[in-house]
Amino acid sequence: MDIFELANIKESALAEIARAIDVDGLVLAYRKYLDKDGVLGSFFKSMGALPKEQRGQAGIEANKIKLEIAAIYEQKFQELEKAAALLREHDRLDVTLPGVAPKVGHIHPLSLVEGRILEIFNGMGFEVVESQEVENEWYNFDALNVPKEHPARDVFDSLFLSDGSILRPHTSPGQVRYMECHQPPLRIIAPGRVFRRDQVDASHEPNFYQVEGLMVDKCISVANFKSIIDEFFKQFFCDCEAGADPQNKRLAARDMAAGENIRLRPSFFPFTEPSFEVDLRCVHCAGKGCSVCKQTGWMEIMGAGMVHPNVLKNAGLNPQFWQGFAFGVGVDRMAMIKYKINDIRLLYESDQRFLDQF
Ligand code: DAH
Repeated sequence: MDIFELANIKESALAEIARAIDVDGLVLAYRKYLDKDGVLGSFFKSMGALPKEQRGQAGIEANKIKLEIAAIYEQKFQELEKAAALLREHDRLDVTLPGVAPKVGHIHPLSLVEGRILEIFNGMGFEVVESQEVENEWYNFDALNVPKEHPARDVFDSLFLSDGSILRPHTSPGQVRYMECHQPPLRIIAPGRVFRRDQVDASHEPNFYQVEGLMVDKCISVANFKSIIDEFFKQFFCDCEAGADPQNKRLAARDMAAGENIRLRPSFFPFTEPSFEVDLRCVHCAGKGCSVCKQTGWMEIMGAGMVHPNVLKNAGLNPQFWQGFAFGVGVDRMAMIKYKINDIRLLYESDQRFLDQF
């Protein structure tokens, strides 16, 4: 051991102190260097062997290093004690504190709206049924009276699977499937997911939701459709601004003549004759004109019509005995109108800030 050894002792002592992650480790490092039998202690003991003229200087140096190591040790000790105290505080269980409430999920606006649609129709005697998402040409087009090569096939920009089957672009094929194995009188409401080859924008998603309605019986007319759909809209939109406002003579008056809020415009669907587009007097401004109805006072809301005789035939029913009406309504569209949502993409983005509002 000589006097030059002291610098190394100091360096390794400080390194070990720095490495200590708890008080126990720190005390071990302290003992290793500063105990009587420790590294520095041994140096003091061995000093007698040094040449006489070096002894004084070595003593001074060794004492200086001893004090330095002790000071760093003290500092680190305080730090570790503080951290340990914080940890103890953190871990302490205070049984008087209120618990952390578990985060409860809630129903997506699309499910809310679909559920409400089904509930209202169910209340009017419609049975809720579901059909399949993967369809074939027959149910998707032919049985619905859409001839081959007919431009109407392009309206439903369909997505085809590699085996030639089709991801249904609308819920209407379910009508035929149901009528094939059920005898009238029948009333069904059939919700489902549909797919189209659409470019995504504020009003288009390649995947969206529809609800199909169908009523078949003897002597069913457009008047039946109008009254049922009028009642449906009243119930569905009764909590929207115009409907909820008791001052509003139009929508709030539940006893007003049926049909006042509805307008049927002639349209074309291959599976209905006659076909119409159903408009609803705007539920937000009661027809005065606002941003939701683009200042027209009316909102285009669904396609509908009297079931085409060929569709009845294709499902095995005799159109001389049976008539019916059918309609298809977009769940997304109903949700957007009801909650004044101006971009369909919001319904599919799972943004918690949006979803938490429902
Ligand atoms: N299937 C049509 C569509 O997706 C909507 C529709 C129109 C359904 C008229 C019907 C109907 O049942 O009668 O655009």
